[in-house]
Amino acid sequence: MKEIIKAVEKIAIEISELLKYGDFSYAKSSNSTGDTQLKLDILSDEIIENRLKKLSNIKAIISEEKESILEINSNADYIIAYDPLDGSSLVDVNFAVGSIFGIYKGSLDARSLVGAIYVVYGPRLEMVVCDDSVRLFRLNRDNEFKFIKNLELKDRGKINATGGTQKGWSDSHRAMIKSLFDDGYRLRYSGAMVSDLHQVLLKGGGLFSYPATPDAPNGKLRVAFEVLPFAYIYEKAGGATTDGVNDSLLDIKIEKTHQTTPCYFGSKFEIDRVKNG
Ligand code: AHG
Ligand code: MN
Ligand code: MN
Repeated sequence: MKEIIKAVEKIAIEISELLKYGDFSYAKSSNSTGDTQLKLDILSDEIIENRLKKLSNIKAIISEEKESILEINSNADYIIAYDPLDGSSLVDVNFAVGSIFGIYKGSLDARSLVGAIYVVYGPRLEMVVCDDSVRLFRLNRDNEFKFIKNLELKDRGKINATGGTQKGWSDSHRAMIKSLFDDGYRLRYSGAMVSDLHQVLLKGGGLFSYPATPDAPNGKLRVAFEVLPFAYIYEKAGGATTDGVNDSLLDIKIEKTHQTTPCYFGSKFEIDRVKNG
């Protein structure tokens, strides 16, 4: 695990440099989900692949930008599923974007997650590392990630980060979102899940949701490398998650590498509201 964290630190610094000075135009290709790729999506994927390939304990990697699993060392333990650049459609407007890593031991199964890491490329370079606890690190002037604090969610927050095409929301979802606003919650949503979930986590609570809609019947966000790593982090931070049906997003079975799901992450109070109305 330590080796993986060190590799992600190097990856974060490299991608951060790329974001500052790289070409942010589109490539001519699209990925498995059908998203048009930026040159930055492809280069970030290469940076991560090259770093992770050097580790002897990595069995395989799965990337948003790769069609299928890439085997590395068949006898090794860890499978890393990652989103190289999350929120990449926002790099043109200079919003904070991120990278997400799910660390699975043995098999690609939600209950095999042993850790998750995400990086936020904002005005500062920050990294949240979760194994048993959830810890915030920040890059200092000497290019070292320094521990800042442990992160914990309160039982209830004030932020409502709400995604998905609103005209396609179900009546029950619409009513739940409205009930939170009626209770005084404030809208916060940038369109990069790393930044939006980072805000909810650092402000101590609230709700992030991306429901099923007719244009995205299984939601938009990808299970293996977006949803499960954050579900792991939120639950370890004392929060809760659901897909609207199951008690936890960690109950989802991964059947396809690019599978999507509706998803809700938050503190306990808001997730209870999602489940019970
Ligand atoms: P990516 O840039 O990796 O494709 O992910 C974008 C995702 C996620 O970050 C965000 O929460 C969601 O797409 C935003 O979608 P909408 O624009 O539909 O709100
Ligand atoms: Mn993403
Ligand atoms: Mn991405």
